[in-house]
Amino acid sequence: MSGHSGQASPVRAIGGSALKGTVRVPGDKSISHRAFLFGGLAAGRTRVTGLLEGEDVLATGRAMRQMGARIERDGAAWVIDGVGNGALLEPEGVLDFGNAGTGSRLTMGLVGTYDFSATFVGDASLSRRPMARVLDPLRQMGTQVVARSGDRLPLSLHGPRTAAPIVYRVPMASAQVKSAVLLAGLNAPGTTTVIEPVMTRDHTERMLEGFGANVAVDTDAAGVRTIRLEGQGRLVAVPDFVVPGDPSSAAFLVVAALIVPGSDILIENALMNPTRTGLIDTLREMGADIDILNLRESGGETVADLAVRHSTLRGVTVPAARAPSMIDEYPVLAVAAAFAEGTTRMEGLDELRVKESDRLAAVAAGLAANRVVHEEGPDWLSVEGRGSGKGIGGGVVATHLDHRIAMSFLVMGLASAEPVTVDDGTMIATSFPEFMGLVDGLGGTLEPLAVA
Ligand code: S3P
Repeated sequence: MSGHSGQASPVRAIGGSALKGTVRVPGDKSISHRAFLFGGLAAGRTRVTGLLEGEDVLATGRAMRQMGARIERDGAAWVIDGVGNGALLEPEGVLDFGNAGTGSRLTMGLVGTYDFSATFVGDASLSRRPMARVLDPLRQMGTQVVARSGDRLPLSLHGPRTAAPIVYRVPMASAQVKSAVLLAGLNAPGTTTVIEPVMTRDHTERMLEGFGANVAVDTDAAGVRTIRLEGQGRLVAVPDFVVPGDPSSAAFLVVAALIVPGSDILIENALMNPTRTGLIDTLREMGADIDILNLRESGGETVADLAVRHSTLRGVTVPAARAPSMIDEYPVLAVAAAFAEGTTRMEGLDELRVKESDRLAAVAAGLAANRVVHEEGPDWLSVEGRGSGKGIGGGVVATHLDHRIAMSFLVMGLASAEPVTVDDGTMIATSFPEFMGLVDGLGGTLEPLAVA
């Protein structure tokens, strides 16, 4: 069943049982999307292991197939025969990205400078999300956009005969926008320059370099990064590409172990790239017992195993500057905060309003439904912790087609005095299809409910 077109399926989390054991988180979603995109573009055969087989990533793989890449599963690996830079084919039919913001926005960049038409569609959540952030720089490069008002999906792109390379200062902290402009630059003559005032996840720059692109990054004294990419160069396959485990998926298990009394778990193979570890830093400031073990290199990234034990947490203020390194982790941090002693204040959350749902509003509503005292501002959230699960729970949470809202509140239910129900668990398959099974294996109780 496809999560975005299927029927909602509620799930209930029941608290009480300590989590114990060892788990390995599936591949990183950001890197998996890019593995299909860059492997599908680069000349030669890329073999990918550890790929996240979530619906979002598979949609990106389908789109690359529609444009000429050969992509096959071979046991535990994915084998990709890329077309060569500049040689994508006009897609047959529409490109359906389902729920996937990253897949759709990066692919818009990739094809936006090709002299052909490509049509993008998505589910109700993706069709509400702002696309102007990617379309504006593409227009500067010469792309024609046919979109319904407000630059939202469904939309069609048609690139110019020869795209203009641009210098683009990214106006919001967004790795997707940075990446879309760089990918558009791959098919433009000369140098495309992206200026990034606030550093976001750097997987595109790192991986493009690994696939042989001519890309250079300079960082000035104020931390402003300038990324220069030479367009129309060769991209070459990476024979053996390893995807590290997703820290944003690990986050749910980390918080679950911290807040369920008696828990003691080991999470293997989590990516430790500093652009992704803001949640671990924050939880440690809150007093979390997290050991980072066995730090090692894997596929050009640092990974580690995380030993996590139930902990007494204290409220903290999370500075706005940390937001890019934990942008997807605020919903589950809010859950951790509900079980801390004192107030946790999170600032600089404006980008949360334009995720798979308005995550700030969805988190606030979920906290309210489960009797957690909190205050929601335009770009901040404060949560009054109760120090234990007493008095928390009993609510039904509206997930708004948002996988991270679903998983965050199921984690809350694992530690709450009363069960927590989420109205739809199907979207979990977009990023973390193994979530329910892994929680079950650790001893937690998640029950799918019959649909009325
Ligand atoms: C992503 C970037 C982030 C993040 C998303 C994945 C990426 O989005 O929220 O889950 O892979 O580049 P923004 O660029 O919108 O911040």
